[in-house]
Amino acid sequence: CGIVGYVGYRKAVPVLLHGLQRLEYRGYDSAGLAVLDEKSKKIIVEKQVGKIKDLQEYIWGKEINGNIGIAHTRWATHGPPSIENAHPHTSKSEAFAVVHNGIIENYAKLKDELIKKGYQFKSQTDTEVIAHLLEEYYEKDLLTTVLKVAKMIEGAYAIGVISTVEPDKIVALRKGSPLVVGIGEGENFIASDIPAILEYTKTFIALDDEEIAVITKDKVEVYDINGNKVEKKPFTVKWDLAAAEKGGFKHFMLKEIYEQPKTITDTISGFFSDLNNPVYNEIKNIQNIVIIACGTSYHAGLVGKFWIEKFVKIPTIVDYASEFRYRDFPVNEKTLIIAISQSGETADTRFSAIDARKKSAKVLSIVNVVGSSLSRESDFVIYTYCGPEIGVAATKTFTAQLITLLLFSLKAGLERGNLTQEEFEKYYNDIIHLPHLVNEVLKQDKAIEEISYKYHNVKDFLFLGRGLNYPIALEGALKLKEISYIHAEGYPAGEMKHGPIALIDENLPVVCIVPKDSLYEKMISNIQEVKARKGIVISVSDSQDSHLLSLSDNIIKIPSVENENLYPIVSVIPLQLLTYHIATILGKDVDQPRNLAKTVTVE
Ligand code: G6P
Repeated sequence: CGIVGYVGYRKAVPVLLHGLQRLEYRGYDSAGLAVLDEKSKKIIVEKQVGKIKDLQEYIWGKEINGNIGIAHTRWATHGPPSIENAHPHTSKSEAFAVVHNGIIENYAKLKDELIKKGYQFKSQTDTEVIAHLLEEYYEKDLLTTVLKVAKMIEGAYAIGVISTVEPDKIVALRKGSPLVVGIGEGENFIASDIPAILEYTKTFIALDDEEIAVITKDKVEVYDINGNKVEKKPFTVKWDLAAAEKGGFKHFMLKEIYEQPKTITDTISGFFSDLNNPVYNEIKNIQNIVIIACGTSYHAGLVGKFWIEKFVKIPTIVDYASEFRYRDFPVNEKTLIIAISQSGETADTRFSAIDARKKSAKVLSIVNVVGSSLSRESDFVIYTYCGPEIGVAATKTFTAQLITLLLFSLKAGLERGNLTQEEFEKYYNDIIHLPHLVNEVLKQDKAIEEISYKYHNVKDFLFLGRGLNYPIALEGALKLKEISYIHAEGYPAGEMKHGPIALIDENLPVVCIVPKDSLYEKMISNIQEVKARKGIVISVSDSQDSHLLSLSDNIIKIPSVENENLYPIVSVIPLQLLTYHIATILGKDVDQPRNLAKTVTVE
């Protein structure tokens, strides 16, 4: 879900709607806003099921004049998408309005107690209890009341509150879910994420867990959960607004695919400006590494494992954060957890890292969003430099994570004496060609689109790869599922004969990632197995061999690379384009696929 709030001199409604639009990637099944009307002094609430544009159309022409308000775009957890369940939620007398991101775990108990006291509930959400609790416990000060309510509610959440009793302020509380305060002149903001308010300010305060901000148009004050004042240092972001706009592309996803030569260049430069990162000292003490992540970031971790084992020579496992968190994996002070997360807000990844740290493991996070929760909860951080990624399906942040993992492995290998400075530089010289190589792949776009036209109507896809390119097969399948809703499986090619081979017939397209690397011949054998069962072979390869050509129904060309470690970064680009085109041909909403959200802050 996404939250935005405004207090200042402008009309609140347009600011809130713009903010919601930029947060829409966090959830988009319903949306709403609450504004304190300057004439009636009442809180006006407007909600709609569907996307922000539905809310916009609904509000169009309505007179809502007020300079303070809160708004929300929802990704349903408690109760299906409906107007009643959409936020903001108001209290019985409508004196308090609340937006909320996260889950209140003890809401059922609180709800029962409130019902006994005569409160009636309009929605099935956990959020509504907060509005009623505020009304029940308000005495003479909103901050004190929010502090009191904060102690009653359990779970991970971020909330924003406005009220008619103290009409000049927003009170915002963060416990586990992201929330930033944007600082303007004569106006201030709250938001779940920076892009929501980037058009108004570049100065932010990131709230830490259990911090409460009281925001008026001229002042922001932050308190801890016991009501003590906390001094916060604002930070400035360098992202410009253009980075959060489509810039002539039909979709954010396509724009972000095309941005990769630049984001790879920026991530390489960013990496080299941070060579004194203390993690390279720490790596000398480390005996085992655990990579934790979700979704696409998990696939980056799977590739990273190969490089870490090869160059750093430390045993490494990779796990889904949601799995790692609930098992008794032994860690100690010689364990390095590498937590990979584009947003730095994914709940499972964050809480796994926090738990491991409590057990004395060290945590290195690889994160794209500066100031995000995970980056502040880690011992060490390496940033990727992609600017905001808006498309729900990760693309540019994936290649930036790969580059970061490769460079990290090389640098850590150098520090541990597994690589000489000369070898390190040799790798570096190969790596700096990557933006150019990615550009070469992008030139295949038209050819890839034609292939997409041939196969957009099938029901299933199989993606195969080996070694470093096996996780790329997983990523290709994930992308296709996410944005086109076609069922797809990624598999290690050598494992296909133990199961998925049964699926192969003349209707099944099999995307084979078959670069000219050390596993090339093995891949060819697997492709033969596909062809022998009449499967449709789509090869992604730099090979010109007649044998591969004769086995393939379609070939997507990638450039050859000097160093086979670079193949995954080059070979994922055609899969991003293939899945993008299939989804757009099918008329799917690629930037906001159904049921998904960009940042998943629930567990
Ligand atoms: C969601 C997104 C995915 C993303 C995953 C992990 O599921 O839809 O695109 O890969 O979260 O997100 P993170 O921000 O932790 O990388």
